[in-house]
Amino acid sequence: MSAIIIDGKAIALKTRLDAAEKAKRLSVMPTLAVVLVGENPASLSYVTGKEKALSEAGMGSRDIRLPADTTEDALLKLIADLNADATVHGILVQLPLPRHINEEHIIEAIDPKKDVDGFHPVNMGKLVLGEDCFIPCTPHGIVVLLKEIGIETKGKHAVIVGRSNIVGKPLLNLLIRKNINATVTLCHTGTQNLPSYTRQADILIAAAGSPGLISGDMIKEGAVVIDVGVNRVEDATAKKGFRLKGDVLFDEAVEKASYITPVPGGVGPMTIAMLLQNVVQAAIL
Ligand code: GUN
Repeated sequence: MSAIIIDGKAIALKTRLDAAEKAKRLSVMPTLAVVLVGENPASLSYVTGKEKALSEAGMGSRDIRLPADTTEDALLKLIADLNADATVHGILVQLPLPRHINEEHIIEAIDPKKDVDGFHPVNMGKLVLGEDCFIPCTPHGIVVLLKEIGIETKGKHAVIVGRSNIVGKPLLNLLIRKNINATVTLCHTGTQNLPSYTRQADILIAAAGSPGLISGDMIKEGAVVIDVGVNRVEDATAKKGFRLKGDVLFDEAVEKASYITPVPGGVGPMTIAMLLQNVVQAAIL
């Protein structure tokens, strides 16, 4: 059996058009401040993609690029200014930050009402409690993907590999909400015998940031496989000198799974689509 390849781009487009429609009905133009510190090439590419999507959806972006040696104090000052600026509805500080800046301090400085990433402890806490909040874009995008393709989640065993604050932890909390009702196992680098868990998954979500970690023999026949990995692997034959590789060995997994997301073109586009939805939400609040 060969899996159905989930078209993340198509589902993302639908979500983006929906966000654009909602934005059009508002009396203000939803505007996101996008802050990039330093020149991490992957971050630069993500930020450019986000700004392009905002503009295509008729929304505004305040593009703030700072040098890698920006101090934590200077960044905190910028965030205080953006918090106070009524024309800015959302604030996104692209992660990771340079090592001399404490990410927690920065995230906690963002007004939770402008925290469209959903990374602030107030939003994370509300997510755990099942309250309305900004939901982190990648896990939210995964849930929307599952819903759009009609995957039954109730009572299913979802196995997440990776415990990041950006994906694994928030996704765990989303999947156990009553409207989704999955049973969740979260595996991480301390997990012993990883394949014994992944083979139990009806829905397997690989978010470890480890290229090719999940091989075909780690997947149950007919499982839904969601690959969150966006690993840049050097490849001299590629135009850019690298290739994007997922956490899943696609060629093996496609033979075992019922549905699978490709990399690129799977989860990635959904992250941006959900960000647009959160920016509209921030403008309404
Ligand atoms: N770095 C990787 N993913 C994300 C994300 O969703 N938001 C931000 N701010 N940084 C990231």
